[in-house]
Amino acid sequence: MNEITAIIGGTGIYALSGMKLHSETVLTPYGEVTVERTDDLVFLHRHAPHHSVPPHKVNYRANIKALHMLGVKRICATFAVGSINAHFELAVPVILSDFIDYSSGREHSFFDTIDEGKGHVDVSVPFCPVLSQALEDEAKKLNLEIRRGGVYASTNGPRFETPAEIRAYRKFGADVVGMTLCPELPLALELGMSYAGLAFSINWGAGMTPSIELVHGGVDKIKDDMLRTMIAALQNTKNANCTPAPIH
Ligand code: HPA
Repeated sequence: MNEITAIIGGTGIYALSGMKLHSETVLTPYGEVTVERTDDLVFLHRHAPHHSVPPHKVNYRANIKALHMLGVKRICATFAVGSINAHFELAVPVILSDFIDYSSGREHSFFDTIDEGKGHVDVSVPFCPVLSQALEDEAKKLNLEIRRGGVYASTNGPRFETPAEIRAYRKFGADVVGMTLCPELPLALELGMSYAGLAFSINWGAGMTPSIELVHGGVDKIKDDMLRTMIAALQNTKNANCTPAPIH
């Protein structure tokens, strides 16, 4: 049977272009989720169709459970972020390598009772190295400028940060800041899925410019190449050894 993989589109990435897709609605224990799909590739818009759900209200458990119920084992996800590292230019995609979770008050685990296990996911290697390498290789083939390795500070939103928060996150080693990686990634790992993340900056972090200026134009130019990169990376790593994170 063909392996089923998934792309989770964040802000700005709302569809897979040039593919014959059909909609499917999955009823999970956490709520309904509608995806667009082919036989072996599922596209999920993180914020629901028409971007109707803000980052702090996304039903992350339903989204990830739906992919799991569809048989997805490997995910590539995109994130519109703010850059807080002057070396990470706007609209140059970054293959994420690590994260710091500053989010709170979100349903962030499937392990609600000890009967289901302790749920101690080992996040020593949060992003799948095989998929991350494939993203880099495929981007090169398309001449898409890309960076390998970036630390994502995951905040609650929906407000942007203060300049002091941005300085603190930078000091703690973050390169980009966004509102959605957590709990999405840890939930995927809890269900034994492999996950790679591709972030692109649409603004400089608070305090780096006089006010937050969102620049979507640069991203519109690269988003088709980003999608091509992700699709090829998923296809060309079928049967590759994407080892899920251990759970203790
Ligand atoms: N902060 C948090 N999330 C974001 C930003 C930001 O500056 N830009 C895009 N998503």
